Amino acid sequence: MQNNTFSRLYLRQNLIVLDQVTSTNDYLKQLLSNITPSPQGTAIMAIHQTQGKGQRGSQWITQAGKNLTFSFALFPQNLPATAAFNINMMVSLAIHKYLHKSVEQVKVKWPNDIYINNKKVGGVLIENQLSGRNIKSSVIGIGINVNQANFSEDINHKATSLARETGLPRELQDTCLDILETFFDIYASVNVADTDLLLQQYNELLYQKDMEAQYEIQGQRKTGTIRRVTDNGLLLLEMDGEERSFDLKEISFIPPTNL
Ligand code: BTN
Repeated sequence: MQNNTFSRLYLRQNLIVLDQVTSTNDYLKQLLSNITPSPQGTAIMAIHQTQGKGQRGSQWITQAGKNLTFSFALFPQNLPATAAFNINMMVSLAIHKYLHKSVEQVKVKWPNDIYINNKKVGGVLIENQLSGRNIKSSVIGIGINVNQANFSEDINHKATSLARETGLPRELQDTCLDILETFFDIYASVNVADTDLLLQQYNELLYQKDMEAQYEIQGQRKTGTIRRVTDNGLLLLEMDGEERSFDLKEISFIPPTNL
């Protein structure tokens, strides 16, 4: 547990806003590799990312100036690489907590997609740098659709934005600071090495938990029910009368047909 919370002033002073960058994750990783140390909470926000990165090698393409794209630095103390998923859980908890202040139906689609009413509103890409067996630094990249009003026809049924859900536009830099503040409040009050506590809270927020739904497994469509995420970060489902757990490469969600 860290015993310092970060004031908004501290977070603002350590936020760098760039008009354009390839990827805020890449920019921050480069910054952290410089000789001059960057403080915990150093954040890079971009108005426009030209090569935004998503999970599993995908691209993160988002409307410039409308949505939030930022990355921040975390230096966990004595956190083994085997507990890397704890950082993912804490980030999801923070984004959920922030969004849930204005929207009811916020869920976390394992491992890190943020959903509102069955539509994706944001995603997270975490890149860890190791020292021996521990995580030396973590670059936490967050993309949230904030003010985008319209999405292209191909994704309109599966993407949303905060403004679309609430009817209210938001100032991007303030929203970024709000999320950082929410994250560091949680980071100060919960031990990031406490897997059990984080899992307990994270599992409460799981998208499609305890609901029968369709998944693709080894190229086959299967019906299953998500029960929980395990302490090594696998998704556990009840399927064909037994419990089976999957890593990210082994399972994909098939969207409900009624969207
Ligand atoms: C996903 O859902 O696939 C993860 C998306 C993560 C996007 C964010 S935007 C800020 C940061 N910089 C990047 O290049 N990616 C992350």
